[in-house]
Amino acid sequence: MDFTGKVALVTGGGNGIGRAACIAFAKAGAKVVAVDRDGAAAEATAGIVRQNGGEATAITADVTKAAEVQAYVKTTVAKYGRIDCFFNNAGIEGKVAPVIEYDDAVFDAVLGVNVKGVFLGMKHVLPEMIRQGSGAIVNTASVAGLVGTPNMPAYVASKHAVLGLTKTAAGEVARQGVRVNAVCPGPVDTRMIHALEEQLSPGNPEAMSERYQNSLPTGRYTTVEEVAGMVLFLCSDLAGNTTGGQFVVDGGRTATGGAVTNLAPKR
Ligand SMILES: NC(=O)c1ccc[n+]([C@@H]2O[C@H](COP(=O)([O-])OP(=O)(O)OC[C@H]3O[C@@H](n4cnc5c(N)ncnc54)[C@H](O)[C@@H]3O)[C@@H](O)[C@H]2O)c1
Repeated sequence: MDFTGKVALVTGGGNGIGRAACIAFAKAGAKVVAVDRDGAAAEATAGIVRQNGGEATAITADVTKAAEVQAYVKTTVAKYGRIDCFFNNAGIEGKVAPVIEYDDAVFDAVLGVNVKGVFLGMKHVLPEMIRQGSGAIVNTASVAGLVGTPNMPAYVASKHAVLGLTKTAAGEVARQGVRVNAVCPGPVDTRMIHALEEQLSPGNPEAMSERYQNSLPTGRYTTVEEVAGMVLFLCSDLAGNTTGGQFVVDGGRTATGGAVTNLAPKR
């Protein structure tokens, strides 16, 4: 996959899957823009790309704020002239609690980042891609967008919504040369999964990690590079007629029904 001369914009680019995607896009020749509300993390990602001989810019922005989304799009186009690939990826996990105990403010916060952030990103990037007559967007959903996970109501609702937004936008822009797909990772070895392990098994996250990984057909978490590989494929010409799709990268979890396992302790 050759992205020479292309521009890749990545939200949540400061850590985890977003950082790995920035590095992978740059290795494949793209100029990369890492957007994150954690500006230092975005700068660190850009630094890694530059150390490897790539071209990268870091932008500090909160994806829930329309003005900041407009600003990251404007800055990218001003600097690099276009946006070929948009990895709409920033997300948060919220808390582990059942519906009847779930905090209203946490619910709003999760929907704010994971749904409104994805919506605003597409709202402001799509006009650039339509103007170009080309472009590919990958939204980060999750296996939590495909099946329920007890005790994660906000996260599950938000990721189901990401798939709805993906399919809707894909249909709107398919005749204008723009493709919109979603990636559905299973548990990936990042801060997010380790934070969930700690919530599920306070003081002994390692036990939860082992139990969770053992429950997966491949017996291990997905790596950030393995998710980035799917993202690059979906943004590449190899996926030229692929739009509106949802692509699992989950070690066989959903295929085997593992995703409905309730990992929370018995109450
Ligand atoms: N790790 C997993 O197991 C897993 C599984 C499925 C899906 N996902 C999804 O993958 C995406 C990336 O997660 P990750 O595992 O790399 O987590 P992470 O916490 O390592 O990285 C997420 C990044 O997003 C940034 N971010 C959060 N809120 C933001 C906001 N409002 N504006 C701008 N940036 C913001 C954070 O600062 C962080 O750098 C998320 O959408 C997550 O839901 C993760």
